[in-house]
Amino acid sequence: MKFRAILTALAAASLHEASAKPFGQRQADLASRIEAENKIALQGVLNNFGPDGSQAPGASAGVLIASPSTDNPNYYYTWTRDAALTLKMVVDEFLHGNGDLQYHIRDYVKAQAIVQTVSNPSGALASGRGLGEPKYYANLTRFNGDWGRPQRDGPALRATALITYSRYLLSTGIDSDGTEANNIWPVIQNDLNFVAQYWNQTGFDLWEEVDGSSFFTTAAQYRALIEGARLGKQLQQDVSAYESQAPNVFCFLQTFWNGKYAVANINVKQSGFSRSGIDANTVLASVATFDPEASCDDTLFQPCSSRALANLKQYIDAFRTIYTINKNISASATGVATGRYVEDVYFNGNPWYLTTLAVAEQLYDAIQQWSTINIITIDETSLAFWQSAYPSAQTGTYTKSGYSDFTNLTDAVLAYADGFVETALKYAPENGALSEQYSREDGTPLSARDLTWSYASFVTMRAARLAATSDYGQVPSWGSPSNPQVSSTCTPSSVKGTYKPAVAAGAPSNAPACTYLVTFNLNATTFYGENIYLFGNSTDLGDWRVSDAVAGGAEYYSDTRPLWTFTVELPAGAELEYKFLRKEPSGEVLYEVENRSLHVSECGSESPGEQAVEVNWNGPVGSQME
Ligand SMILES: *[C@@H]1O[C@H](CO)[C@@H](O)[C@H](O)[C@H]1NC(C)=O
Ligand SMILES: *[C@@H]1O[C@H](CO)[C@@H](O)[C@H](O)[C@H]1NC(C)=O
Ligand SMILES: *[C@@H]1O[C@H](CO)[C@@H](O)[C@H](O)[C@H]1NC(C)=O
Ligand SMILES: *[C@@H]1O[C@H](CO)[C@@H](O)[C@H](O)[C@H]1NC(C)=O
Ligand SMILES: *[C@@H]1O[C@H](CO)[C@@H](O)[C@H](O)[C@H]1NC(C)=O
Ligand SMILES: *[C@@H]1O[C@H](CO)[C@@H](O)[C@H](O)[C@H]1NC(C)=O
Ligand SMILES: *[C@@H]1O[C@H](CO)[C@@H](O)[C@H](O)[C@H]1NC(C)=O
Repeated sequence: MKFRAILTALAAASLHEASAKPFGQRQADLASRIEAENKIALQGVLNNFGPDGSQAPGASAGVLIASPSTDNPNYYYTWTRDAALTLKMVVDEFLHGNGDLQYHIRDYVKAQAIVQTVSNPSGALASGRGLGEPKYYANLTRFNGDWGRPQRDGPALRATALITYSRYLLSTGIDSDGTEANNIWPVIQNDLNFVAQYWNQTGFDLWEEVDGSSFFTTAAQYRALIEGARLGKQLQQDVSAYESQAPNVFCFLQTFWNGKYAVANINVKQSGFSRSGIDANTVLASVATFDPEASCDDTLFQPCSSRALANLKQYIDAFRTIYTINKNISASATGVATGRYVEDVYFNGNPWYLTTLAVAEQLYDAIQQWSTINIITIDETSLAFWQSAYPSAQTGTYTKSGYSDFTNLTDAVLAYADGFVETALKYAPENGALSEQYSREDGTPLSARDLTWSYASFVTMRAARLAATSDYGQVPSWGSPSNPQVSSTCTPSSVKGTYKPAVAAGAPSNAPACTYLVTFNLNATTFYGENIYLFGNSTDLGDWRVSDAVAGGAEYYSDTRPLWTFTVELPAGAELEYKFLRKEPSGEVLYEVENRSLHVSECGSESPGEQAVEVNWNGPVGSQME
C-alpha cells in the first residue's frame, strides 16, 4: 500500500474544495485505505501480544507490550492502561465475530489475575494499593525504577474491558453456566474495589506527568462503577460500594468544566504547574466512555454532548498554529495534526497518531448517537464547534425527519472527522506502521515504533466510522444513566475494599492476604542533591540491589527534624534485614555500617495494619558540598 502516494494526490486541503474527485468518491477511497490500514493495525497489536507475538519475545502469555522499542524510548514493558484500552478493542473485535481473538482475551485475563498479586513500589494487593502501579516488565515482574505512580485509570479500564467480555459471555449463552464469567469476576472485583476506595485520591495522569486528579481517570472510573454494579448484580454479588460511590465520582467529574472546556488535570500537587488544561486527555475520556445508547447530556460528556463538542473544538484549534505541518491548512472544516497538549515537550512535542485518530473517533461516535436519537441540538455551547464543521450552522433543534439540515450536519461532521483520519494516514509510512508520534515539522514518524496504543486507536476509529456510516454493529451500551442527577454538593468519599488473589482466573494463591504499611522515619541530615534509599533482603526491599532500593521522601524534612520517610507495604509476620544508603550527586553510594532487622507485626484485625519504625542514620555521612 502506498499510502503516501495516494494521499499526496488527495492533498490535505479542504475536503470541500480543491479535489478533482466528487466527495462520495473521496469517501470511498478513504474507506478502502482505512480497511487496508486496519489489517496492518490489528496485526500490529497481535505482534506485540505475548507469548507468541513476533515483536514481543519474552513477553508472558496475555501480556501486551507497549512497543517493541527497547531504546530511546524503552517501552518494552506492559502498562496497565495501554493494555486495558487495547484489550477493550480486542473484545469489541471479538464481539464483531473475530473468534480467533478469544484465546488472547483468555490469556489476558490470566495475566491480569497474576499481575494483580505482584507487589510493587505502589504497594501490594492486600491494601489495593498495588493495583495503582502503572507498569511491569513484560515477564510480569515488578519495575522498581522511579516513575509517576500511582496511576488510577488502569484498574477502571481493565474492569471495563473484562466487564464487556463477561457480559457478552453471559448474554450469548457461550458461557451457559456462567463459569467463565464467575471466574473472571474476582479480577474485576479487585479493580472496582480499588476505584471505590481510591477515586478521591490523587495520582498521575495518563501521560504520567501530572500528579493530581485527571479528567480521563475520573471519567473511566465512573463508567467502571456503573457497569461493574450492573454486572455484579447479574452475578449476585454485593455492589453496594460501587453504587454508593458512582454518584460521588459523577459529581466530582462535573467540577473539571471551566465554562469553555474540561480542564484535564485539577488538584495538581506539583508546584509551578501551569498549563491551559486543554489536553487530548478529555477527548480520550469522551471516547473511552462512549455509550451508543446514551443521551447527549452535558453531564455525561458523551461524544455528542455540547460540552464535549465545544471541548473538542478548543482542543483542535490549540494545535492549528503550533505545528509547522498544520500551517497552510485553513482554519475550519479541515482535519489537522493534533498532539497531547500544546505545552508538551516530550520528543520536542509532536502530534500523536492516537490523539489525531481520537478526534475522528469522537465525531464518528457522535454521529452514531445523533442517528440513534434522531435529533441534533445546537446550543450556544456547541455553536462554535458546529460552525467550524458547517459554517452556516445556527442554534436550534434538527430532527432527522422533516428537513435536510440533519443530514447536512451529520455529513459535515463526517467529512470533518475524515480529515483527521486523512491526516494520520498522510503521515504514516508506506508500510502502514504506526509509531507513537510524527514530527511537527515534516510529519516523519518519531519516538517508539509500532506502538500498541496507536494501532488499537486505528482499529477502534475504524469500527466507529463503520458503525456511523453503515449497519456495522455498534459497541455495546454500558448502561450510561439516561437522566443522571448531579448532587448539589459533592462528597469526598471512599469505601475500604477487600482484595484477594483471583485464583479461579489464574492468580497464584500465595500472595500475602495480610500486610502492614510500614513507615520508616529516619533522622538523617543531608544536603541538597543527596538522597536516601532503603534496601534489604526481600523483593519489596530490592533484594540488596542498589538499583532496586526504595527511594525515601523528604517532604517533612526540616532543620529541626531532618526526617526522611519510607512507606513500604510488607507481609505480616515477615522477618527482614535492611539498611539505608545515601546516593551522592556524584553517583557515589554510602552505606550504613550495620544491617538492621525488622519483624513485621503478626496479622491483626486490620489489613493493612500500620507499623512505624523510628531510627537514626548510622554510618558514614556524605561529603559536604563545597
Ligand atoms: C524479568 O524481566 C526483567 C527485564 O527484562 C529482567 O531483568 C528480570 O530478570 C526478569 N525476571 C524473571 C524472573 O525472569
Ligand atoms: C475529593 O472529592 C471532593 C468532592 O468531590 C473534591 O472536592 C476533591 O477535590 C476530591 N479530591 C480528590 C483528590 O479527588
Ligand atoms: C505553505 O505554503 C507556502 C506557499 O505556498 C509554501 O511556500 C510553504 O512551503 C508551505 N508550508 C508548508 C509547511 O507546507
Ligand atoms: C443541504 O445541503 C445541500 C447540498 O449542499 C444544499 O443544497 C441544501 O440547501 C442544504 N440544506 C440546508 C437546509 O442547508
Ligand atoms: C531476611 O533475613 C532474615 C534475618 O536474617 C531472615 O530470617 C529471613 O528469612 C530473610 N528473608 C528473606 C526473604 O530472605
Ligand atoms: C548486610 O547488608 C549487605 C548489603 O549492604 C548484604 O549484602 C549482606 O548480605 C548483609 N549481611 C547479612 C549477614 O545478611
Ligand atoms: C529524630 O529526631 C527527632 C527530632 O530531633 C527526635 O524527637 C526523635 O527522637 C529522633 N528519632 C530517634 C529514633 O532518635
